[in-house]
Amino acid sequence: MAIFTVFGNPVAHSLSPQIHQAFAQQIGVELNYTRSLTSASGFSRAVAKFFRSGGAGANVTVPFKQQAFELVTYVTTRAQLAGAVNTLVPLGYGQLLGDNTDGIGLVRDLQKNLQQTLANRDVVVLGAGGAARGVIAPLIEHGVASLTIANRSRERAANLVEQMADLKLRAFTFKQLTIPSGAIVINATSASLTGHEIPIENNELANAGCVYDMVYGAQPTAFMQQAQQAGVATVYDGLGMLVEQAGAAFQMWHEGAKLDTQKVIQKLRETIS
Ligand code: ATR
Repeated sequence: MAIFTVFGNPVAHSLSPQIHQAFAQQIGVELNYTRSLTSASGFSRAVAKFFRSGGAGANVTVPFKQQAFELVTYVTTRAQLAGAVNTLVPLGYGQLLGDNTDGIGLVRDLQKNLQQTLANRDVVVLGAGGAARGVIAPLIEHGVASLTIANRSRERAANLVEQMADLKLRAFTFKQLTIPSGAIVINATSASLTGHEIPIENNELANAGCVYDMVYGAQPTAFMQQAQQAGVATVYDGLGMLVEQAGAAFQMWHEGAKLDTQKVIQKLRETIS
């Protein structure tokens, strides 16, 4: 039976095994998908051991995505632009291809599941860390009208904009931020993980057409609640992105697999609530 795993720390909470088992069932294959807890110093050894013992593919989650990027032999264009790898594909002879499916996961969730058009839309990404960087290029690729990065420290946002070198990109602090009317505002900071609000005034946030938090949970996240209090009617969490990025990774390992991701999202929603 083909063996897959997800490397992370912590990783015990990861829903990836459940998601990948559900996909496997949909296309009628059997697989074994485990969780691999590893340390920063043990990461590359753990990956090498896993693939030496016949691993068919692996995901990489926090905090090893950048380390995985450094480790692989080849990267896809989207992983190159993200500077991070969340999917490992063995090529034989100890060589690995690194991909990043986070951005396409977000785009598919927004467009396919939530019917939010990206073409000609103003988009605001909050945060300038790894999570933000992973989604910028795919958002631009899908024809957004403008993409504003807002971050606590301006320098980090400015650096990110400089690296991405796209005319549609702008960098601001939260204080300087003006949200275009009807924009999609995506929270890619880690503030929701710690239950912190983002320092954006209610009357500014109220301009958002919808708000998307890349974090998910049984209850609305801190940022979703903040947006609702500001009067934003449409707020989403990142459960759909989680399933869609997993679907795109699954398709790297099972080429051409047709997946019903919405069914899996629905099932997980029931499980976590
Ligand atoms: P990740 O890989 O999850 O993106 P990261 O690279 O450490 O993690 O980035 C965390 C992001 O969340 C950064 O944009 C950080 O802002 P700074 O660059 O100013 O540090 C942002 N962040 C973390 N806690 C925050 C908070 N309480 N309020 C606003 N932004 C926060």
